Order: sequence, then C-alpha cells, then structure tokens
Amino acid sequence: MMNTAVVIKSMELRGRVIMPPLGTYKCTEDGKVTEDNLEYYSARARNPHVSMIITEHSYISPEGQAKPRQLSVSDDSDIDGLHRLTDAIHAEGAKVMCQLNHAGSAALSAVIGRQSLAPSPVILPAVPKTGDDTPPAELTKEQIAEIVCRFAAAAVRAKTAGYDAVEIHSAHAYLLNQFYSPLTNQRTDEYGGNLEKRLRIHREVIAAVREAVGADYPVAIRLGGCDYMEGGSSLEDCVYAAKVFAQEGADLIDLSGGMCRYTIPGHNEPGYFRAMSEAVKKEVTVPVLLTGGVKTMADAEMLLEEGAADLIGVGRELFKNAEWEM
Ligand SMILES: Cc1cc2nc3c(=O)[nH]c(=O)nc-3n(C[C@H](O)[C@H](O)[C@H](O)COP(=O)(O)O)c2cc1C
Repeated sequence: MMNTAVVIKSMELRGRVIMPPLGTYKCTEDGKVTEDNLEYYSARARNPHVSMIITEHSYISPEGQAKPRQLSVSDDSDIDGLHRLTDAIHAEGAKVMCQLNHAGSAALSAVIGRQSLAPSPVILPAVPKTGDDTPPAELTKEQIAEIVCRFAAAAVRAKTAGYDAVEIHSAHAYLLNQFYSPLTNQRTDEYGGNLEKRLRIHREVIAAVREAVGADYPVAIRLGGCDYMEGGSSLEDCVYAAKVFAQEGADLIDLSGGMCRYTIPGHNEPGYFRAMSEAVKKEVTVPVLLTGGVKTMADAEMLLEEGAADLIGVGRELFKNAEWEM
C-alpha cells in the first residue's frame, strides 16, 4: 500500500508519503533561493519514504508576502533560483510541487510596506495571531481580478522552473481561506455571502491556473476546510468546496485547517483532520491528501489501510529530522 505508485496527470509518485509545505524562511530578503534552502530540501528529498515535497508557501505578488525571507514566485527573476531548487529535489528522486500563496490580511504591513488587502476589513480571528492590529483594506473587484492573474502567472513560473505540479493555498487563514470562511468574508457582492459566492474566487483561480499551465499539468488545492470556531466554516462546507474544486479541474485535494491553521485545539492524534478527508473522499474521485499528527510510518500505513486518505503528509517529523524512519 505504502509504496504503490500514484499517478496524477503527468506526475507519477513513488509512494504515498508527502512532505507538506513548511515555511523555513531561509531565503534572501527578496525571496530568492539560497544554499540553505538547497541543503534543507535535498536532505528531505533523499529520504526514500518521501515521494513528493510541497515546498513552503511562496508569495505570488509583493503585497501577498506573509513574512520576511519567505520564498517568492512573484517575479520572473525568481525562476533561476527555483530551478536550482527543483533540480536539487529531482536529483534525489522525489517530485516537487510549488505552493502558491497570497497572505491577504495575514501579511504584515511592516513587511509589505502598505496596508494589507483582504475580502473584507476584518481583523483575523486566527489563533495564534497573524497579521496586524489594524484592519486590512477591502479588495476591489479590479484588485481581485489582478490577484487571479497573479496566481496564473506564478503557476507558469513554477512550471518553467521545473516544478512537477502546483498547489493553490486556501488554508491557514491566508487570502483564499479568508474568502472561504464566513468569519472573514463579509462582502455583499458576487464574492461574498453564501458559500457558492465565497468560492467564486477559487473557481476563477483554478480556471486561470489551468488555462495557463495546460490540461495535463497537476494542479492541487489546499483547503482549510473547517474553522473549528463558532460561526466559522464547517465540515459540510468543506465537502461542498472540495466537490466544486474537483469539478473545476483540481487534481488533488489537500486538507488542513482554516482559522485554527494546521491544528484542531486539543488534538494531536495521527490524522486529526481525518473526519474531513474521509467525508471528502466519498464525494470526489481525485486523490485526497491528509496531513496532521502522523509521527511514524505505522501511523501513515494505518490511515491508508483504514481508507482515511490516498496520500499522507508528514510535516513536523521531517522538518525536525530529514532521516525520519530511515
Ligand atoms: C513551522 C511550520 C511551517 C509551516 N508552513 C506551512 C506552509 O508554508 N504552508 C502550509 O500549507 N502549511 C504549513 N504548515 C503546516 C504543515 O504543512 C502541516 O500541515 C502541519 O505541520 C501539520 O502536519 P504535521 O503534524 O505532520 O506536522 C507549517 C507548519 C509548521 C509547523
């Protein structure tokens, strides 16, 4: 089970364990790849259990940068460095996916040099706290259209730089998650209101990325499915959104948390998000990736055997130890 190959469009994975994105913030001040990045990712790609690395969230436009020394995919000048990164990972036999992100109101104004942008002028309820204490500016429809184009342009850069696939980040209280969650989207135009409207930008981003990268290139989406907060997104919303994404052409649904980010308060058992992945798996035919709380290969095997997901993410264990379970 563990080592059976999985084919996702043009990409074949050598096994079922994925290293999910983990921000290391080891880049240069302008988001370029460094020797530190290459060493860190090569060491994890060398782990024979890891079939694919999803590299840390990379900002698609300057005002979408979350933190200093974050990886950039916002400019053509990033491509050479990213190519060195994908070459280093490929040299060890693993595949590599680029996580495309806009931080929305989680971008610190001290980092981006301006007021942050979000669906609505709402301070994030996210715990632990991210973003500023001042509300973000509400995005205009023109700015939304610009961001959709930015996702597509970033996807093309990733493809040019040798990435095998891209992932659209809509989890952990960042911009697309802010559109999805009723706690942060209070718009009254076609981008807010009921769930269908809160998913409009996701449909547009998936369609624009697909158009830009072509039919055969794998496009994943990471969904922060549930907020685990009163008035927040629910399991029902998560299943509906996953179906929409698959219909729009997403090739992989990667599940994580929303406003509580990658955690559920009070939980750290292996596969703590499995209620979401199990419910989504029943409704979509594309592979489902479950991450959270997996510490051993036995944990991963158990979750696969029980049908909780098709692929299992191992984050903090690989972050701490490149030679995990070797
Ligand atoms: C230090 C750190 C950085 C992270 N950075 C990202 C990120 O860039 N993008 C993302 O989607 N998730 C990020 N995550 C969440 C992880 O991908 C993963 O979902 C989380 O660590 C839970 O899995 P685990 O229990 O196997 O560690 C990060 C988590 C940690 C601990």
